[in-house]
Amino acid sequence: MKIQEVRPEFTTSRPGDYPLESLPEIAFLGRSNVGKSSLINSLLNRKRLARTSKAPGRTRAIHWYRVEGGGLRCRFVDLPGYGYARVPRRVREREWAALIETYLHSQRPMAMAIQLLDIRRDGPTTLDEQMIDWLRANNRPTTYVLTKADKLSSSRRARAAQLFARRLQLPEGVRPIPYSAVTGAGRAELWSLLDTHIAAS
Ligand code: GTP
Ligand code: MG
Repeated sequence: MKIQEVRPEFTTSRPGDYPLESLPEIAFLGRSNVGKSSLINSLLNRKRLARTSKAPGRTRAIHWYRVEGGGLRCRFVDLPGYGYARVPRRVREREWAALIETYLHSQRPMAMAIQLLDIRRDGPTTLDEQMIDWLRANNRPTTYVLTKADKLSSSRRARAAQLFARRLQLPEGVRPIPYSAVTGAGRAELWSLLDTHIAAS
């Protein structure tokens, strides 16, 4: 997409509270700190549109960003991360889980789920697997993005992509996309997938 307009459109921390107008939505899912907000900024070429942080638990609400360009329109949906279980924050963690779950079970027009996984891990964690199983059981088109690819050498990156493809049991020829929000590696590949899905929805 040749991006012409990007703007924050709606933010909520109340489950079930959504923007009215219906546009295809791209939902960014993954553990706390995996790089969801950074990926959104990188895809949209903005430094500080979505707030990011070194400490997990930065995104505490659902944020919708409207994206337009080349005759296409969609919304990027930045969600809080899961799996952030610092004990004093337990209650908040549950509130975030409710936000994510209610969104997933809603009838929102999800054109694509982007499931983020840290490339340095040896595969999806238990919580990642639960999310992925749910997406599959509910037939949500999903793209897997391996974040922080700049932290590995190119040979280790390729090996990690193979390992994740195996662990995720992806069909032959489908592979997760290594991505770096620092260098922009993976950006063109991910955008070409997104364009196809947005145009078709
Ligand atoms: P929550 O909102 O807490 O769920 O986190 P998040 O998934 O939105 O992560 P965020 O984008 O805030 O990034 C977390 C940390 O990882 C920040 O310090 C980012 O700078 C860093 N980070 C994200 N993507 C990359 C990347 O591609 N490369 C490197 N080196 N660091 C990254
Ligand atoms: Mg975030």
